[in-house]
Amino acid sequence: MGLDVDDTVSNHNAGGAAGRRLRVGVAGLGVIGGGAALQLAAPDSPYAFSAALVRDRTKPRPGLSPDVGVHDDPDAFLNAPLDMVIDALPDGAVGYALIKAALARGIGVVSANKQALAGRLAELHGTAKQHCAVLAYAASVGGGAPMVETVRRARAAGGVRSVTAILNGTVNFILTELAAGGAFQDAVKSAQAAGFAEPDPAADLSGEDARAKIAILSYEAFGEEIDLEAIAIEALDESKAADFAKAGGVWKQLARIEASGDRLAARVGFERVDADPFLRDVAGEGNALRVTTDDGETHDCTGKGAGRDPTVDSIFADLKAVRNAG
Ligand SMILES: NC(=O)c1ccc[n+]([C@@H]2O[C@H](COP(=O)([O-])OP(=O)(O)OC[C@H]3O[C@@H](n4cnc5c(N)ncnc54)[C@H](OP(=O)(O)O)[C@@H]3O)[C@@H](O)[C@H]2O)c1
Repeated sequence: MGLDVDDTVSNHNAGGAAGRRLRVGVAGLGVIGGGAALQLAAPDSPYAFSAALVRDRTKPRPGLSPDVGVHDDPDAFLNAPLDMVIDALPDGAVGYALIKAALARGIGVVSANKQALAGRLAELHGTAKQHCAVLAYAASVGGGAPMVETVRRARAAGGVRSVTAILNGTVNFILTELAAGGAFQDAVKSAQAAGFAEPDPAADLSGEDARAKIAILSYEAFGEEIDLEAIAIEALDESKAADFAKAGGVWKQLARIEASGDRLAARVGFERVDADPFLRDVAGEGNALRVTTDDGETHDCTGKGAGRDPTVDSIFADLKAVRNAG
């Protein structure tokens, strides 16, 4: 997999591949990257935190060791001694360029950046394979719910027939508040105050966030990416909230992919789920996934879909898998 090992440190961690210290760089030191940086720098960390990429190098970064090189230029960042990069950038285009450049140098990538990956997985896996580098992205879908793993397991157990999922923690949080009688604008403010929604929650409310995630899951379920533009999305707004209140019952934003013959169809929209306890009972920022295989078996998972801790845990689960495979 083209990983160099930090020999000096690995001597202190004798015990085979699992004891080696991978040199890791973090792109983005915000909510997610900042959390990853804290774990990398922990005294008992089995990783060497080598470098960081940010937009503004002059910003004070309390707690960041002076040994960590801080860059604002992706090339300089990738020139640091790195085995793996954690992509916690908020921008799809910048993230995609960084992932591609890292893989092309044989540097592995663990990404939480769904916008960078959606629609480009086949290409990025091709680059990774060509340069013997690892590409992992469990944190990009489902936060702390192991969705990518669950879909892979279902696919291995039998062909996948359909995927149904609650993929946006912010929208689910707002829908939960609405179901409890809250007003739309108050629910959005509560989601922001709880740290789930961005200051501008447009990508969550429009359905674009869930669309990127279901596109990633379509690749995992069917080995094929659905064109993002071919995935219909339905937005959540004040008038839709009023429709739900009038209709009553429990409404969820569901992302679905269904295989029918050679065709794949995917969409993100709102459905009433009173009769389906698995989906109905997903509250707050929760996410849920149900995969149905060709033989009618179902594979489920649930978990917290947003927030620093579950997402960082998911990043480190991917890193650990790389370390153990090393
Ligand atoms: N927040 C969540 O709950 C969550 C959950 C799952 C996945 N994710 C994904 O994780 C990623 C990071 O989200 P976040 O909430 O941590 O974002 P964030 O808090 O806004 O942090 C963004 C970080 O990226 C840096 N940055 C921004 N643009 C850059 C550029 N062009 N070049 C270099 N650095 C740049 C910023 O640098 P400065 O510090 O200099 O401004 C900042 O450190 C996103 O892709 C998001 O979709 C987030």
